[in-house]
Amino acid sequence: MDYSEVFGKVMSHAKEYGFIYQSSEIYDGLSAVYDYAPNGVLMKRNLANLWWKFMVQLHENIVGLDAAILMHPTTWKASGHVDAFNDPMIDNKDSKKRYRVDHLLEEYIEKQLLKAVKEADKNAKKNGWALDSPEYRNYLSKHRSTLKAKEVEQKMNAALNANDMNALKQLIEECEIVCPVSGTKNWTEVRQFNLMFSTQLGSVADQSNTIYLRPETAQGIFVNFLNVQKTNRMKVPFGIAQIGKAFRNEIVARQFIFRMREFEQMEMQFFVPPGTQKEWFEIWKQKRYEFHLMLGLPENRVRFKVHEKLAHYADAAVDIEFEFPFGFKELEGIHSRTDFDLKQHQEYSGKKMAYFDPERNESYIPYVIETSVGLDRLFLAHYCNSYCEEDAPTAEGGTELRTVLKLHPLIAPIKIAVLPLLKKDGLPELAEKIFDVLKWDYDIQMDEKDAIGRRYRRQDAKGTPYCITVDHQSLQDFTVTIRERDTMQQYRMHIDELDNFFQSVLNFKTYYKAFHEK
Ligand code: GAP
Repeated sequence: MDYSEVFGKVMSHAKEYGFIYQSSEIYDGLSAVYDYAPNGVLMKRNLANLWWKFMVQLHENIVGLDAAILMHPTTWKASGHVDAFNDPMIDNKDSKKRYRVDHLLEEYIEKQLLKAVKEADKNAKKNGWALDSPEYRNYLSKHRSTLKAKEVEQKMNAALNANDMNALKQLIEECEIVCPVSGTKNWTEVRQFNLMFSTQLGSVADQSNTIYLRPETAQGIFVNFLNVQKTNRMKVPFGIAQIGKAFRNEIVARQFIFRMREFEQMEMQFFVPPGTQKEWFEIWKQKRYEFHLMLGLPENRVRFKVHEKLAHYADAAVDIEFEFPFGFKELEGIHSRTDFDLKQHQEYSGKKMAYFDPERNESYIPYVIETSVGLDRLFLAHYCNSYCEEDAPTAEGGTELRTVLKLHPLIAPIKIAVLPLLKKDGLPELAEKIFDVLKWDYDIQMDEKDAIGRRYRRQDAKGTPYCITVDHQSLQDFTVTIRERDTMQQYRMHIDELDNFFQSVLNFKTYYKAFHEK
């Protein structure tokens, strides 16, 4: 199966196997809002717990926080979100559809680059060039430059940086971009839309009571910087980590849980002495990249992308991109946020944000390196990456298609399924006993219905890494069959050994050490 087909498969699998439902589905859903179903919630929590372990538990200089979603409205004035958290949008007058201008232009650039590759491939075939030959590369780069993709990208970045809406409109016209729905070039002017959701505090609705649902969790960390530093006696450099909901009124919310209006972020702000931010930026870039590989995202699907257009608070920024079935897209942002946020909060609140550094014997406002990953996006990355359809042998000696989620065992929602071969002869009772021993440490499931082969398939499709089958031999010698999801290998094991076995194969420390000793 081609990887580009995986996205559609994942969307239907998510509903069928209880990972994700559309929010308020009985009312036809709410656009770009989703609910996590029983398997999805387990998988999401596993990802969140692994992030927490990796970031907080393994770093003695990082502590956690759980700040409220609602914050004093001045927070968002100080952070720049009230004035600058905008996306440039354009409407097509015929289809009445609204688009993000930078997305339309990026799609155009991508198409141009693809066109160049196709053209070069055609020429390579005609002239007998190998795809890694200098002739091929020269042709490709020459042809790319004639297509002006680079020039459009530069113009777009300049216009975005200068907030120049007219220049963006001009670029849309120059590139002759048409609406993907109506196919026409009948565009409105480009306008800025603020992405924050607002609501009213208390019962009286007037402007002074307007508050916002936080568009990022980071500000809850900034405003608590000195509280945490003082109450936990932290010394710079140190970090504060948080997992929580964020809300953005995304105008173009597509692609399932990739871009949602209500989503979850896992963010860490690392406070460092001014002048050391470059070196910490590199350290966190590397650590965060390793986190993704450690949990099984393959090297060829994870890459860095340096930001050309910097957010209003950053002096350097890089994305960790993952290759989703619809292309390489941002999975995590790593930003060097300077002292912008703390300084702004100092100015707007009138409260000092400086830290006295006993080693340097001076006070300063720390600089901040931020790592920010969307939990839902991380979920989608692992979902797409692990989804497989492959031939598997049947009991009758033939083959059948099996759907399997080859998730990292620590991410899989259900770790172990206990399957009594028959629903009689004391097999369910023994299975129940095994369930009772293991349930304290793992998310585990009893499955008694249907033929054993069908039950294996059901567990494969949910990503369960281990099945334990209880049969008549189990009643005699207290051994059971362990069946592995990926290899479909089976072996017998004494019931007394199960606990130790799972402690060793479902262990964060083991995976962490194995990855770092490679
Ligand atoms: N505090 C920095 C910040 O919020 P961001 O790049 O806007 O930076 C960080 O967001 C991460 O949050 C993204 O890399 C992405 O994984 C996730 N994210 C952002 N908007 C999202 C949305 N609408 N739906 C799902 N995830 C989103």
